[in-house]
Amino acid sequence: MSDVKKGLAGVVADVTAVSKVDPETNTLLYRGYPVQELAATQPFESVAYLLWHGELPAAGQLDEQRAAERAQRALDPDVRTLLDMLPLDAHPMDDVRTAVSLLGARELAGTGSVLDASGSVEDNLRRSLTLFAALPAIVAYGQRRRRGLEPVPARDDLDYAANFLWMTFGEESDPVVVDAFNRSMILYAEHSFNASTFTARVVTSTLSDLYSAVVAAIGALKGPLHGGANEAVMRVFDEIGDASQVPAWLDTALAQKRKIMGFGHRVYKRGDSRVPTMKTALDSLVAHYDRPDVLELYSALESEFVARKGIYPNLDYPSGPAYNLIGFDTATFTPLFVAARVTGWTAHILEQAASNALIRPMSQYDGAAERHVDGYVPLA
Ligand code: ACO
Repeated sequence: MSDVKKGLAGVVADVTAVSKVDPETNTLLYRGYPVQELAATQPFESVAYLLWHGELPAAGQLDEQRAAERAQRALDPDVRTLLDMLPLDAHPMDDVRTAVSLLGARELAGTGSVLDASGSVEDNLRRSLTLFAALPAIVAYGQRRRRGLEPVPARDDLDYAANFLWMTFGEESDPVVVDAFNRSMILYAEHSFNASTFTARVVTSTLSDLYSAVVAAIGALKGPLHGGANEAVMRVFDEIGDASQVPAWLDTALAQKRKIMGFGHRVYKRGDSRVPTMKTALDSLVAHYDRPDVLELYSALESEFVARKGIYPNLDYPSGPAYNLIGFDTATFTPLFVAARVTGWTAHILEQAASNALIRPMSQYDGAAERHVDGYVPLA
């Protein structure tokens, strides 16, 4: 069994120029830029451009991309009709997965053969921008529909983050809130060969299309060991209640061998490079909404769990309570992650397609030894 790398742990599956994760120095670079610098200085649109094209945009390039993105922000009527068919208690991750599938089916209608679906670089850049532009309306409508509210028309005079909040809440958000949300989108945008990105690359490696790769990636992100953890963190906060309950809650949870959501990481073992930036954004939201109780619970669980297990928070730990303070429903948190990570996924899809090799690992068989059907007695 010595050759088996369970969970592909430690396996370097390919090269990438999209991002670099260095757990030793605790750095995360997008196309060479530290993510903290990008989060502090850039609108999410510029980071999307950087991930797709390899360079930050010049003014004219950003204007051009902005115009194309703003022109595709509106909630598509066909998507709305489809979403309205889903049960109100379906998970919002199923909304986004279904909506992306519809957008793909429509865009690829008429391609005729699977051989034509994968598309050119230009096709895939255009499709990436379409998904980037369309997802906020889909996520916002998901929350509004479950609250019995009509969709809010997109605004074309607001940046991506401000418009996303506008479409969700139907009012302009305070700049402190827009800034925290914009930072979260940038921090969630990309993280090398994580499970969902690798899924997108596997699908792309078969010469399937970008939409199919993104649908598959959404499925991978939904799980609580990956993107679903931001939702799960909030459910843990709700379960604990307040800071004074942390020690007793943790005694029980650890005795039951529960995984504590929002802690631990396959790559980072001494803390996630994105956490300090997101924690600063959470601090600003706590001050803005005057909710010191949130920080008390956050700090109590972090210090108690780190002291007991030596396992540190990941990005989902501060982002869960941050999204809750902004007013997002808990089940909407992972779809927010989708809206951000679609930029990284599509950058990897472009990279995989440009230098493709079918991804097909080996397995080591440990099932029944060879046997033959002549001894088998069929059921009557
Ligand atoms: N709570 C309790 N114990 C944990 C946790 C946790 N959150 N994370 C790791 N451990 C323990 C494991 O139980 C295991 O202990 P053992 O050796 O005694 O069996 C040990 O630490 C190693 O953990 P693994 O799960 O084997 O490590 P892996 O690298 O596979 O796990 C993972 C990484 C899946 C993220 C894990 O830490 C986890 O389940 N965390 C909770 C879910 C979560 O927050 N996911 C978000 C990931 S980041 C992101 O998507 C933005």
